[in-house]
Amino acid sequence: MAFTFAQTHSMSDDEFLLLRDCIYAHCGIYFAQDSKYILEKRLSSRLTDLNLPTFNDYYHYLKYSRNKEHELTDIMDVITTNETYFFREAFQLKAFSDEIIPELIKSKAAQGNRSLRIWSAGCSTGEEPYTIAMLLSTMPELSGWKTEIIGTDISQKVLLQARRAIYGKSSFRAIEENDLQRFFHQQDDGYKVNDSIRELVTIHHLNLFDTHRLTMLGKVDLIFCRNVIIYFDQASKKRVIESFHSALYDGGFLLLGHSESLMNITTQFTLRHFKNDMIYQKPDRLFAGGSL
Ligand SMILES: C[S@@+](CC[C@H](N)C(=O)[O-])C[C@H]1O[C@@H](n2cnc3c(N)ncnc32)[C@H](O)[C@@H]1O
Repeated sequence: MAFTFAQTHSMSDDEFLLLRDCIYAHCGIYFAQDSKYILEKRLSSRLTDLNLPTFNDYYHYLKYSRNKEHELTDIMDVITTNETYFFREAFQLKAFSDEIIPELIKSKAAQGNRSLRIWSAGCSTGEEPYTIAMLLSTMPELSGWKTEIIGTDISQKVLLQARRAIYGKSSFRAIEENDLQRFFHQQDDGYKVNDSIRELVTIHHLNLFDTHRLTMLGKVDLIFCRNVIIYFDQASKKRVIESFHSALYDGGFLLLGHSESLMNITTQFTLRHFKNDMIYQKPDRLFAGGSL
């Protein structure tokens, strides 16, 4: 679907509430009353494209037309905020590389298990899962291990970019020059992630509210879900965090964005104090108290 830029149609308060609730039920993203203008601006082009005079007509289209599922899926490209970049949140990444991964390697190797599954939930254009792959690729202790990084997002548009893996300046605001040289090659249209990194990552379309499809993902050792739940209300956060708890192996880790916490959401995770950062862990049933 091509979104055209059009004049902004005017949205009444009632229309806002109808559309807001429809979007919320689909993906958990919650637009507060004072953000009506955002929805009005982001959805206006759909009225133009579909030749619908009012947002009320558009609500009926979204709710009852034969295309309703497609339309809801497609508007996620304009509803979501997709800001991201390589090597975001350096302290957390240092805790990941220097403390968490060595701990996971030790505990999994002790069980005779030499595989690692990491999920980047809400991966946007792919900078996060590729950063994880770059960090893992430099660890000799993982040689001979089966490592899998799964990137998922609700917006098809960002996933196309993630699969293309070609990036411009704004993705590189936190990268060091030698990492740029090591993990990318320059093309006419930007810097492309090297194949050796890309092959560690798979990219999939997934709505974190689609509980059935979430279970098909299988169990993982670690989840990055950074700067995603900030757009959810408390009930949505609880629902998604519950799904993460089920998806993690006992002793697995959950890495949220630096402004996010599980306070007032759940007590099912332990907050571990590492040297570089504080990270949530699903307690191991055998060694309750946090350590693996
Ligand atoms: C701000 S980006 C964060 C990207 C990356 N995790 C980071 O921290 O740099 C938030 C992403 O979450 C995705 N998202 C929002 N709601 C979602 C949902 N219900 N299911 C899956 N992805 C969702 C958006 O499409 C967007 O790409």
